[in-house]
Amino acid sequence: MYTPTPPMGWNSWNTFGPMPTDRLIRETADAIVALGYREAGYEYVIIDDGWMLRERDENGLFVADPEKFPYGIGALADYVHGKGLKLGIYSCAGTRTCARYPGSFDHEFSDAKQFAQWQVDYLKYDFCNFPKSAKGRQRYQTMSMALRACGRDIYFAACNWGLESPETWMRSVGANSYRSTPDILDNFPSAAEIAQSQLNLLHCSAAPCFNDMDMLTVGMFGKGHVGLNDPNNKALAACMEQDYVTQFALWSCMGSALIIGADVRSISDSMRRLLQNRELIAINQDAECRCPYLVYHEGAQFCFLKHMSDHTVTLVYANLSDEETEVDCIFADLGLPCTSGVRLRLRDVMTGEDEGVFSDHHPLEIPAHGCRVFRGSFVPA
Ligand code: GLA
Repeated sequence: MYTPTPPMGWNSWNTFGPMPTDRLIRETADAIVALGYREAGYEYVIIDDGWMLRERDENGLFVADPEKFPYGIGALADYVHGKGLKLGIYSCAGTRTCARYPGSFDHEFSDAKQFAQWQVDYLKYDFCNFPKSAKGRQRYQTMSMALRACGRDIYFAACNWGLESPETWMRSVGANSYRSTPDILDNFPSAAEIAQSQLNLLHCSAAPCFNDMDMLTVGMFGKGHVGLNDPNNKALAACMEQDYVTQFALWSCMGSALIIGADVRSISDSMRRLLQNRELIAINQDAECRCPYLVYHEGAQFCFLKHMSDHTVTLVYANLSDEETEVDCIFADLGLPCTSGVRLRLRDVMTGEDEGVFSDHHPLEIPAHGCRVFRGSFVPA
């Protein structure tokens, strides 16, 4: 049984690509605790692709690369658990991982057992090199059965990049989260495209299986594996702080998994404060985890409302265009016609300031690449 809220953690891929090491994971676990990330809710430390040797051993088992992980995965899990955190690992439903290490196809049960013996807590399960004759849905079901039979609670983080409409079947195969998007790159258009691709899937991110909009790039500023050196990253400029604020606000309020991809040992103070923004995290981790209600979507602008368990609402306005804009939200579109006499008291979540009490409509400005988040409480008639 898991807390029925989106998973929070850190993953090695965005910054370190296929080069995770024991030292990196230990230092990251240390930093997650020392710099307040654990306290803010980040729990999983996830080793992505590149942790194993190119071939399995003579018994068909994975071998952790002894140069990268000289003490083995079990010892690393002990260390991470000693910090009050959980260890995640990576494998793939295909015959090889995306970086061409061995995949779990036809090894699902022995791999799950090996992860359980190592005391692993979370499995990211990717989709590269998947045989054409096989069925994705069925192989995710097979790994799910293997995890449930392995004798340990292992969080099943499926990752088939949103292919084959996973929102229609990932819940039924027992996944706890599923990647609903292709890979993120550290540039604003990439994050904006991912966010917009989720607008007609907003109703799908709900307990106990959450949309994973991919690891955050917040705080990377162009450095790292999916940064400006990635040949796929055609952006000329790294993200600005505003771009990251928008990304984190959207991932939080849209109910995505919150998995940091930057190097937590060296994230700037302002980006650390953003990643630890208690109010945004509380919206993401709200006890009811309601998926948002889309109010409007016009071009690069959209607005959604999320009902909160304390009978307030979260109101999110995004403007992903390059120009500042003014909008006037008509409350009838929120289900609050002026004839009700009910007004909304709005507080700006990012600044903590009172925006005022509004009836009928709410005019506001949204900066370029901007997102404004308000917590609204009802003022009865
Ligand atoms: C795929 C996944 C990424 C990462 C890499 C590893 O591209 O979508 O998140 O895990 O594989 O090779």
